[in-house]
Amino acid sequence: MPPKGLFIVLEGPDKSGKSTQAVLLVRALRRRGLAVLHTREPGGTAMAESIRKILLDPRLRILPLTELFLYEASRVQHTAQKVRPALARGEIVVSERYTLASLAYQSYGRGIPLRTVRTLNRVATEGLSPDLTLVLDVAEEIFKERMRGKSHDRLEKEPPSFRDRVRRGYFALLKKEPRVAFIDAAGAIRKVHSRILKKLNPLLSNHRTI
Ligand SMILES: Nc1ncnc2c1ncn2[C@@H]1O[C@H](COP(=O)(O)OP(=O)(O)OP(=O)(O)O)[C@@H](O)[C@H]1O
Ligand SMILES: [Mg+2]
Repeated sequence: MPPKGLFIVLEGPDKSGKSTQAVLLVRALRRRGLAVLHTREPGGTAMAESIRKILLDPRLRILPLTELFLYEASRVQHTAQKVRPALARGEIVVSERYTLASLAYQSYGRGIPLRTVRTLNRVATEGLSPDLTLVLDVAEEIFKERMRGKSHDRLEKEPPSFRDRVRRGYFALLKKEPRVAFIDAAGAIRKVHSRILKKLNPLLSNHRTI
């Protein structure tokens, strides 16, 4: 049987600390001698990073369905060219965002039916789902604090009501979707990091014994 890696996704609203925590997590796993691929969506391959630029461009007005297709197009490339090969090599993949983001943003945020997004997620990934998705949660005030003085991308320019729908969407999905866990992402960076490791430890000890 081919070696099977472990697929971990960090999710959550904008500025919830995904990139910061992904870096710390990847470092901690590598220190344990594990092979890790750090990647992100949208993006992760040259072609998908080009799609990311379109998606984040604040000058563009993109319709909800177009936006969904762009995320899914990026996901096709990323899953087939980066995630699957790493998992086949037995590596741990840490991705900032994956399919749950489309359910939260495109469905709860933009109003596209869940069924449509689920179908496209399945088609784009050919059914590959993460072993665990961790939803990093922060309140709107933290978003505002972390955005202060920074330029806003197309999504960060959305009104608070949009972020509120997305955040509520993540809460709803936590109950609905399998292998999704909540992480309180307020508080010190180190503290959030240990919350993440605590959630992952059972999976990691299993992984090493395979
Ligand atoms: N626990 C924390 N406490 C205080 N500041 C934090 C914490 N975690 C991250 N930050 C800061 O908040 C900002 C956003 O963090 P980060 O880029 O990791 O979030 P993100 O979820 O990846 O954001 P994006 O939605 O832009 O991808 C950064 O300036 C980072 O240094
Ligand atoms: Mg980030």
